[in-house]
Amino acid sequence: MEQKYVVKGGNPLVGEVVIGGAKNAALPVLAAAVMTDGCCHIDNMPNVRDINVLLQAMEGIGAGINRINDNEVVITGKGIKPEGIVDNEFIRKIRASYYLIGALLGKYKKAQVVLPGGCAIGARPIDQHIKGFEALGAKVTIEHGMIKAEADHLVGSHIYMDVVSVGATINIMMAASLADGNTVIENAAKEPHVVDVANFLNCMGADIRGAGTDVIRINGKKAFGNCEYSIIPDQIEAGTFMTAAAVTKGDITVKNVIPKHLESISAKLTEIGAEVTEFDDAVRVVATKRLKPTQIKTLPYPGFPTDMQPQMAITLALSEGISMITESIFENRFRYVDELTRMGAKIQVEGNTALITGVEKYTGAEVSAPDLRAGAALVIAGLAADGITQVDSIGFIHRGYERFEEKLQGLGGQIQLVETEKELQKFILQVS
Ligand code: EPZ
Repeated sequence: MEQKYVVKGGNPLVGEVVIGGAKNAALPVLAAAVMTDGCCHIDNMPNVRDINVLLQAMEGIGAGINRINDNEVVITGKGIKPEGIVDNEFIRKIRASYYLIGALLGKYKKAQVVLPGGCAIGARPIDQHIKGFEALGAKVTIEHGMIKAEADHLVGSHIYMDVVSVGATINIMMAASLADGNTVIENAAKEPHVVDVANFLNCMGADIRGAGTDVIRINGKKAFGNCEYSIIPDQIEAGTFMTAAAVTKGDITVKNVIPKHLESISAKLTEIGAEVTEFDDAVRVVATKRLKPTQIKTLPYPGFPTDMQPQMAITLALSEGISMITESIFENRFRYVDELTRMGAKIQVEGNTALITGVEKYTGAEVSAPDLRAGAALVIAGLAADGITQVDSIGFIHRGYERFEEKLQGLGGQIQLVETEKELQKFILQVS
């Protein structure tokens, strides 16, 4: 039997949960670490599948990877073979493989990386990455599923992004930080992880200003040195547990977070009637009564994050009245709706809009995780449902959530990861 989560709903989730490092910051930070021949000591790294795949691929091209423990690693790019091709069956499946293009192109002026995969949440073009590399003087070709970028010299440039892209902003920032002269990236993404990568590059010796605003200015350097760095907390993991409190009428304090990064989520939860209290490095969410409906449109930061859209949908689908969610970043991010419908939700999808009619309760069902965030959302819906829910395809969840079931159990959630029919039946007997 494939691994699955089995969940018995009905308990409000109560207690404290410690949030790990941000996956979407850690991926580019780790890739960027190969840009120095010195040593980078990185902690607060999440121990999730996508991170481990990236580290293996980096080792595959000769980077030194010394895992101190689950969340701490020392990396050096000293042993890298510049002609190395980044490819293996696992790296093909993750999006972040593309960060090695920017990193290797910056350092060696050439890179050859398999075209990125990632969650199937819509067409995910990389034209803006390519446009940026070309503006810096690289020749970029795509052949046999590989993307190849090369340049005699990388030269700073003025680049205007046609769409706000996290990946392209970071990738161009990495390559430009070891180019000759100055680069300006306009219409840059402003996500906290863009700022984190800029801080990390600066810690290695780069000169990047303006990250977190629309305009990033980079003064290219010749080479980088050593660095010690701690990854920022995961805004989406935190948001996921915040909605878990709202959906199960619980009381959860998420610890080790930067409340500022959670503002769009806190604001929506407050608007629908949850009580949100901010502390220096924690946020507490309490929900005691049925929540109210609202409208949400996903937008680049500081707007409401697309990575929180399914978790918010499962919250609104239990609220009183009609809510509307517009997904403006990825066109295929409502694939969980069929699954949630099996649990009793009433959601109508029309193009990039979901019309949600709140129901009073979910009923447990067998569902399948269609992608990372939607998978986490379905588990939480299960924790709020009457009866037993089984969630399969949970490999998606492990791409981005560390010890997910353990953290939920710590909050009183009845959940178990099972691998055999016997384990499944045992759990069902225990909880009934
Ligand atoms: C990152 O993806 C995240 N992934 C995603 O997280 C997240 O959903 C997304 O940013 C938006 O916040 C990683 O960090 C590894 P984009 P990315 O480039 O970089 C269009 C999760 O659940 N676009 O900001 O791929 C694109 O189609 C995941 O953790 C172009 O048109 O996202 C999209 O509509 C899933 N051309 C929009 O821009 C390009 O060259 C934003 O994409 C690049 C992007």
